[in-house]
Amino acid sequence: MSLFLKRFVSAVEGVSGLGAAFLRARGGFGARLAAVLQSASGQRNALAVLRLGRPRLALPANPVKCYAGEGALLLTRARDFHAVIERQAEFEVVYGPRMRMLTGGRDFFLGMQDGAAYRRDTDAMRRIVRPDDLLPVLAMARAEAAAALAGTGVDLPPALSARIPALMVQRYFGVAMETDQLIADATAMFHFLFSDLDAAPAVTDRALEAAARVNAAIDASIPHAGPETLLGRAVEAGKAGEAAFDPDGIRANIIGILIGAIPTLSKAACLAVEELLRRPGDLARARAAAESGDEAALAAHLWEALRFNPLNPILYRRAARAATLGDTEIAAGTMVLASNLSAMFDEAAVPKPWRFIAGRPWNVYLLWGEGLHLCWGDRINKALLPAMLLPLLARPGLRAVSPPDGEGTPFPRHYRLAWD
Ligand code: HEM
Repeated sequence: MSLFLKRFVSAVEGVSGLGAAFLRARGGFGARLAAVLQSASGQRNALAVLRLGRPRLALPANPVKCYAGEGALLLTRARDFHAVIERQAEFEVVYGPRMRMLTGGRDFFLGMQDGAAYRRDTDAMRRIVRPDDLLPVLAMARAEAAAALAGTGVDLPPALSARIPALMVQRYFGVAMETDQLIADATAMFHFLFSDLDAAPAVTDRALEAAARVNAAIDASIPHAGPETLLGRAVEAGKAGEAAFDPDGIRANIIGILIGAIPTLSKAACLAVEELLRRPGDLARARAAAESGDEAALAAHLWEALRFNPLNPILYRRAARAATLGDTEIAAGTMVLASNLSAMFDEAAVPKPWRFIAGRPWNVYLLWGEGLHLCWGDRINKALLPAMLLPLLARPGLRAVSPPDGEGTPFPRHYRLAWD
C-alpha cells in the first residue's frame, strides 16, 4: 500500500473514532470535544487526520500560556518531529525562566541551550553516576512493590508508583524529606514547569512553596549525604573545585533531577497499566511475562502501552529565529509543538502503527525525548518501570476499581486496582 493510502486509511479510521467518541461523551458540544481531545485515543485519532491533511498546522495563538510565544505550529509527522528536536539551536527549549524561579536564580540544564554551561553541568552530573548505582535502587523497588501488593488491592501512586521513585530520591539522590510531602512537592513543581498551560496563579504559588521546602531539605541533607548518594558525591566534587557543584549548582542540579523523577515515573506507570487494562489480550501476554519473572519481556509490553498512552503527547520548543521546515516558513518566536505521540504513529516511520506489537525496535519509542535534552532518567526509566510493575501485572484478574484521579491536577494521586 502506498504511503498516501496508509495515511488515508488511518485518517478515515481517525474520523470515525472521533465521531464515535464524541457521541459517547456527555455534555454539550464543547464538553464533548474537550473530553475527546483530552483522551489519548482521541488525540491519536485527531493526529492521524492532521498527518494526512494538515501535517503542519498553524494555530493563531500559543496554547502554552506559561511560556511566551507568538502563535504556534503543530507538527504531526515523524520527520518534522526529529528535525525540530535535532535543530536545537533554531528551536530552543523554553523552560529556563520557570526553572530559575524554582532554583532561586541558577539555571538547570533542561532549561539551557547547548553551550559551555550546559556541557559543564551535564558532564559533571554524568561523572557522579556509577555504573552499578541502579542495583540497590532496583532491589529496593522489587521489595517495595512486593510488599505493597500483599493484599487483594492497591492504590497505585501512594503505595507504589510515586512511593518507589520518592524512596529512590531519598536513598540514592540523598534528599531527606517526608515521603508524602516529597511526592506532593515534586509533583507541584513538575506541574508548574511542564503542564501549566493556562499559567494559573495557584499553580505558581504551590510550586514556589514546594521549591522553598525542597531547597531547604537539600541544604539540610548535605551534612548527612554519604558517598552512595548523588548529593554526597556532588558535595565532594564541589569541594574539589567542580564549578557545576558550587552551593547554588548543587541545589539546582539536585532539584532538577528530583522534579523529573517522581511524577513522571508515577504517571507513566499508571498510564501503562491503564492502557494494558483496555486490552485484555495484551494484558494476558504481559501477565505471562510478569508471572515468569521476565522483566525484559514485560518491559516490551510497557513501552508499547506507553506508545499508545504516553506521558507527554508533544514536546514544545520556540523558534529562536526565522526558520524553514520543508516549504513552511516559521516566524521567530513561534511556539513549535512537535508531537512525539503522532510521530510514534506515523505511517511513514512505524510499520502497522495501529497494532499493539510488543518488542518493536527501540527507536520507534519517543517516550522521553531524544537528542540533546534526552531524558536524564533514560536508564532509570527502562529499568525501574518493569521492576516496579512486575509483581502487579503478574496478579490474576487485575482490574481497575476506579479510574486514575488527580484530584483536579493532571497527575494521578489515586488509582485503585484489585485482583482475584
Ligand atoms: C517514565 C518517566 C519519564 C518520562 C516520561 C520523562 C520524560 C522526559 C522528556 C520528554 C524529556 C525531554 C524534555 C524536552 O526535550 O523538552 C525529559 C528530560 C529530562 N528528564 Fe525525564 N522523564 C522520565 C523520568 C525521569 C527521571 C526518573 C529523571 C531523573 C532521574 C528525569 C530527569 C530528566 C532531566 C534532568 C531531563 C533534562 C535532560 C536534559 O535537558 O539534558 N526524568 N524527560
